[in-house]
Amino acid sequence: MDLEVVRGELKELEAEAVAVPVFEDLFDGFSSELDSLLGGELKRMVERGEFKPELGKEMLLFSKEVKAKRVLVLGAGKSSELTFERVMQVAGNAAKKAKELGVESFGVAAPYGDKMGMDGKVKAMAEGMELALYSFGYKKEEKEVKRGVILVKEGEFSKELEEARVMADAVKFARDVSNTPSNEMYPEKMAEVAKGLEGGGIRVKVLKGDELKGMGGLLAVGSGSERKPRLIVMEYRGGEGEFYALVGKGITFDSGGISIKPSERMEEMKYDKSGGAVVMGIMKAIAKLKLPINVVGVVPAAENMPSGASYRPGDVIRFYNGKTAEIINTDAEGRLILADALAYAVKNYNPKLIIDFATLTGACVIALGTKAAGLFTNRDEYAEKLSKLGDEIGERVWRLPLWDEYYEQIKSEIADLKNVGGRPAGAITAAAFLSKFVDEKPWVHLDIAGVAWTQETSTEKSYTPKGATGFGVRLAVEFLKSLEG
Ligand code: BES
Ligand code: MN
Ligand code: ZN
Repeated sequence: MDLEVVRGELKELEAEAVAVPVFEDLFDGFSSELDSLLGGELKRMVERGEFKPELGKEMLLFSKEVKAKRVLVLGAGKSSELTFERVMQVAGNAAKKAKELGVESFGVAAPYGDKMGMDGKVKAMAEGMELALYSFGYKKEEKEVKRGVILVKEGEFSKELEEARVMADAVKFARDVSNTPSNEMYPEKMAEVAKGLEGGGIRVKVLKGDELKGMGGLLAVGSGSERKPRLIVMEYRGGEGEFYALVGKGITFDSGGISIKPSERMEEMKYDKSGGAVVMGIMKAIAKLKLPINVVGVVPAAENMPSGASYRPGDVIRFYNGKTAEIINTDAEGRLILADALAYAVKNYNPKLIIDFATLTGACVIALGTKAAGLFTNRDEYAEKLSKLGDEIGERVWRLPLWDEYYEQIKSEIADLKNVGGRPAGAITAAAFLSKFVDEKPWVHLDIAGVAWTQETSTEKSYTPKGATGFGVRLAVEFLKSLEG
């Protein structure tokens, strides 16, 4: 879709439909204009309670007074409660409706009269419109929306628009990688897709075969599959100073291995590469934005399958940093490949901060449901910063503890660690396992099992259509943008 910002009046907008957000508590520039064009009917409807401008409410009108003819009145909630996320939702609602109507071009009037700056609003509108129109599938697409217009009264927003395009592209890219079924997206293929990111400051190195020697976790998990594992290393150099490291779980399919999963909903385990997909998306965005920092993205990619060559419960494996683990359950594979990847990042890049993304535990979904990612960190400041940012942009995180006592649960009689800590606090013991591979460096672990794709209880949002969400791309890119070099 071509996105543009147009300055002017509602009635003059050249498009096949135009959406006008209406607040519950006030009429702003464009909603007042619409009200006048309708002879005061809009205000009367709201006053009489015939249209309640709550978020998600909408009303389609036709007016000869407006060039676009089709006018979509969109509830925007209370002006005092407007956030970046809320604006994305409203603009996304408009985009979805445009698609439903089958129009080729549509406009959305910017809301005024709230506390948010216009720059942020334009960016949020653009991201919301782009992401709401994302779709993935092998079926022939219906008619496409070709042009989206953000209608403003005044101002210049080319920078915001460009940033939003980059961000939306990166999220869509991550969604594509994550949504692609495992017969098409396997470790080697994921590495190829990562290779496609080369240029513009990014260099990609792919380790395979003998080059993975010493990475007992990645090798063990990948051993049962015909599709051999890869370690994907993406370097972005945009400035001076130490690297930030991003690590993402890239299990292209998680059958559970010898500790095989029940078949019900096993197809969802194609999304077990979402963490890796998100890291790839982040790399794409930061290079396009030319952020003045250095970042390395490490994605261990493997397929967890049962076969005569698989690793087994009872095996003991040795990781890249020399630590050993006893395998209790081959379905707790994510922490094993991440252990090697984290240790690899620490040893080879000495990063000043590591952030990992992983669909790591079902237990995290039990704890937080589909409303937030679990956040674990050994530095309090990042918990605060990321949760504030996540609230604002609609990628919420919620901190869970990593107290010393939890480590008792992953002690082994015969190795440094065991790979499961029992049912209690399953998300925490998984994080505790990972913490043994970051050498006390500043580190944030995001368990995205509940938010990486839309599930039964996921809250419907216009900008997250069914399937992979790309959760983490926007959060991390905004976070990295806010950092010094
Ligand atoms: N990929 C799964 C975690 C998962 C489950 C993510 C459901 C999203 C939805 C992970 O590899 C896994 O299987 N974890 C096990 C760990 C257990 C064996 C200790 C789990 O959560 O059941
Ligand atoms: Mn598993
Ligand atoms: Zn898994």
